[in-house]
Amino acid sequence: MPTVRSAAEAHEKTPTVIFPGSAEAARALAAEVRQLIESRAREGRNAVLGLATGSTPVPFYRELIRLHREEKLSFKNVVTFNLDEYYGLPADHPESYARFMREQLFDSIDIPSDHINIPSGTIPSDQVFEHCRQYEEKIEAAGGIDFQILGIGRTGHIGFNEPGSSRDSLTRRITLDRVTRQDAAADFRGEENVPRFAITMGVGTILRAKKIVLMAWGENKAGVVARAVEGPVTEAVSASFLQDHDAARFFIDAGASRELTRVKLPWLVGPVSWTPAETRRAVVWQAMKTKHPVLKLVDEDYNEHGLSDLLSEQGPGYQLNIRIFNRLQHTITGWPGGKPDADDTFRPERAKPFPKRCLILSPEPQDAIVGMGGTLDRLVEQGHDVRLIALTSGSLRVPDSEADKFAATLSELGEAVKDPAGWKEQTEYAHEILRLLEEKGEFGEDPPLLRQLKGLILRGELRDAAHALGLGADRVHFLDLPFYEKGRYRRFVTTDDDLAALSNLLERHKPHQIYCTGDAADPSSVAGITFKLLDAVLERCEGQDWCGTCSLWSYRGREKPLEAHEIDMAVPMSPLQLERKVRSLSRYGSLSSLELNIADRNRQHAGDYDALGLAEYEAIEAFQRRSRV
Ligand code: GLP
Repeated sequence: MPTVRSAAEAHEKTPTVIFPGSAEAARALAAEVRQLIESRAREGRNAVLGLATGSTPVPFYRELIRLHREEKLSFKNVVTFNLDEYYGLPADHPESYARFMREQLFDSIDIPSDHINIPSGTIPSDQVFEHCRQYEEKIEAAGGIDFQILGIGRTGHIGFNEPGSSRDSLTRRITLDRVTRQDAAADFRGEENVPRFAITMGVGTILRAKKIVLMAWGENKAGVVARAVEGPVTEAVSASFLQDHDAARFFIDAGASRELTRVKLPWLVGPVSWTPAETRRAVVWQAMKTKHPVLKLVDEDYNEHGLSDLLSEQGPGYQLNIRIFNRLQHTITGWPGGKPDADDTFRPERAKPFPKRCLILSPEPQDAIVGMGGTLDRLVEQGHDVRLIALTSGSLRVPDSEADKFAATLSELGEAVKDPAGWKEQTEYAHEILRLLEEKGEFGEDPPLLRQLKGLILRGELRDAAHALGLGADRVHFLDLPFYEKGRYRRFVTTDDDLAALSNLLERHKPHQIYCTGDAADPSSVAGITFKLLDAVLERCEGQDWCGTCSLWSYRGREKPLEAHEIDMAVPMSPLQLERKVRSLSRYGSLSSLELNIADRNRQHAGDYDALGLAEYEAIEAFQRRSRV
């Protein structure tokens, strides 16, 4: 644990290490855990680990498995206590934490099964209290937890200690927060299927561990990480209690560090090298904070907000304001594919070639329309050769009710058609789907036939949504990347087949523009994984003609929206265009509440631009230029 903190870390009340990515952090953490296990083994003692579930620890568990397989690390002397379990789920349920742990770790290492402890999700209600008490006792009897691994939920929870959990809380049954249930909605194919209760170790249980590391990846966690690390210790963010522990640390990646003061407002913690990006960030931040449009910022504003060195380096203030104002102004364009025959010196996208081959990559079928439906609309209208590519089938998101609806209609058609005998195969198919739905029950895993049908349902919805934006069915393509077809949320594994499929796609289309998302997402999310694949493919393509001239624009879908200073291209939308986008989104049967409310985000971007003193639009879709190509 670092004892001397740099000035940059001064705001952080729990020591925080920022790694370039989750892989590096997972390796560092696994190395520490290995040391503990081996030193205990030498002493003939057990090492007691507190373990977490969710996507966050997956890279860490993969590294432990690698250490076991390749470097002979044994887990025979390891005892584990898991943080929590959904109440109501049997241990073999695909989303139970018991099953998650078996599949992600325990089945692949040599831990004795009687060393594994996970709260029971099926203990009868009247025995819950006693079960929880015994869990605490077992931890104590094992000598207490030596090393506790944590993730963090968007509500700031550790384990399932939702806001309101007290510092001294112990293992108990809790009610899940609405946000937590929304976050788990995709796993359970709909919020309504997410269990309402869970059994979790308490904050007090966790704080008794001798050593603690909380991991967090991706920008969506940035806000809650900053609140936990820099904010007050409060029951509203249970991870903030770690500030009171003398051996707790945060291991985070660059995305999750974005809201820490040393990253977000570096001028408040030390000298800054004023690159154009940092300058833009500082001026925009200051304008937002003082509620002054950029052109009305005065020298006192700069001085009072810790920006006097920026002023002395790049002032006078008024000229700096004009420079940044112009820079922001130049991000706005109604011509995302470039304006033909126009001077493009200050436009985000070049004029030539025109029309452009534009490839819009959508990790799951709905993402691109959520993130950039209005821009897609414009690209089509302006005559570009637009292709919308659904990278995965999205079948895991589709609720059973959609498949049921389709199969029921198909079966009824069998009775309605003139020649039912000629419809036999379809009727059998419908019955088979209905049977599979019945057989697997509410929470069972989808057999391949059902997954296929759900994928097809989404295909129809995407074609429909694209059509509402003027894009014909022949322009919508489905890649069905294998990692998704073979996997489940939070535990996907990619192979060379995924790379090959994506690489063939790019080779075939040789795009001038690629629109993508996921660069700031949790690396284990579908968007995060597909972005990583794209990055790898583009690296391989480097040197090819098309690749050298292809521009790469990143949009945000479900992830944290871009902030005004990060936007390189702002595509405004009129009220009518926004309405068209919303109407096109209504074609989807399985959108999350966040996706359904995407228009608010588009309005928020417009509000920010307005506040900065730029033109007032109804809504804006925002893009960031990716520098690779
Ligand atoms: C659940 C778990 C937590 C976990 C959180 C974040 O709520 N009970 O232990 O930290 O999810 O999940 P993820 O790592 O998938 O973001």
